[in-house]
Amino acid sequence: MTAIPRSIDDTIGLLSGTGYVCGRALATVVFLSLRLGRPLFLEGEAGVGKTEIAKALSTALGRRLIRLQCYEGLDAASAVYEWNYPAQMIEIRLAEASGDRDREAIANDLFSERFLVHRPLLDAMSPQPGGAPVLLIDELDRTDEPFEAFLLEALSDFQVTIPEFGTVKAPEPPIVIVTSNRTREVHDALKRRCLYHWVDYPTAERELEILHARAPEVPEQLSREVVSFVQRLRTEDLFKRPGVAETIDWARCLVALDAMALDPQTISDTLGALLKYQDDIARFQGSEAKRLLDQVKAGVEGAA
Ligand SMILES: Nc1ncnc2c1ncn2[C@@H]1O[C@H](COP(=O)(O)OP(=O)(O)OP(=O)(O)O)[C@@H](O)[C@H]1O
Ligand SMILES: [Mg+2]
Repeated sequence: MTAIPRSIDDTIGLLSGTGYVCGRALATVVFLSLRLGRPLFLEGEAGVGKTEIAKALSTALGRRLIRLQCYEGLDAASAVYEWNYPAQMIEIRLAEASGDRDREAIANDLFSERFLVHRPLLDAMSPQPGGAPVLLIDELDRTDEPFEAFLLEALSDFQVTIPEFGTVKAPEPPIVIVTSNRTREVHDALKRRCLYHWVDYPTAERELEILHARAPEVPEQLSREVVSFVQRLRTEDLFKRPGVAETIDWARCLVALDAMALDPQTISDTLGALLKYQDDIARFQGSEAKRLLDQVKAGVEGAA
């Protein structure tokens, strides 16, 4: 277990040790959330490194990562705890067959730790050998409002109540990261409990750093061209703009094809790594790819 960073620079250094490239604005809010013990709410486009920051923090701090993946219809039974009914039934049958225990003893036994199935939120509130875990509540915008209200309560007191069992309170608040793709607005009451940061697409310089960290096998010149091309592509009116994850994927595809530099044909053939909608792909095949590439090459050479 590593201690919480002491400064913003410390935070940047800690995260970069795991290959996560963090700008000053994001590092500031991460640092403050760690220091103040407040949940961090991250919103942004797809593939810009929201989920990854929770993974990076867990690795860097040597804490367990507990992930609650949100989806429509997620309820407390899947998020907090469940009783293991089949095992409880067997226990009842065995007790009936042997007939040597009274009813109250059996009932007490049935609702004990042995039959409790831990789900992510209960796990995050339970004591952990390595210190408070990192709790990632991923893609909160996919759940519905009742679940959000329920979560609000759990995040306010860092405790969950199980009627038959009692209240489990975190000995030390977990490090909470909440992410959203903003397919809907998350309620203000929940946001108010958290520190907020909008994770934007990185600048070209930072994206190049990320590419170096995540795909060091990509040659320098190709990396520069890839980043410039993606940055240029993001300024176009697309149905879905490529994220950092797509930049990395695309660069790896190009290396697998032994491409040393971008050319219009290779771009057209590999657009599926960058763009995931047929309308976007159709637009940038052929002459459009060449037009963008000419602009990018002029820029890259101009900068060299
Ligand atoms: N700042 C960064 N430093 C290092 N790697 C990054 C960074 N940002 C993104 N990545 C890379 O991009 C990939 C995608 O990031 P991640 O899954 O965190 O995106 P996301 O914002 O959670 O997207 P989604 O909204 O689709 O879930 C990561 O696996 C990581 O390799
Ligand atoms: Mg994510």
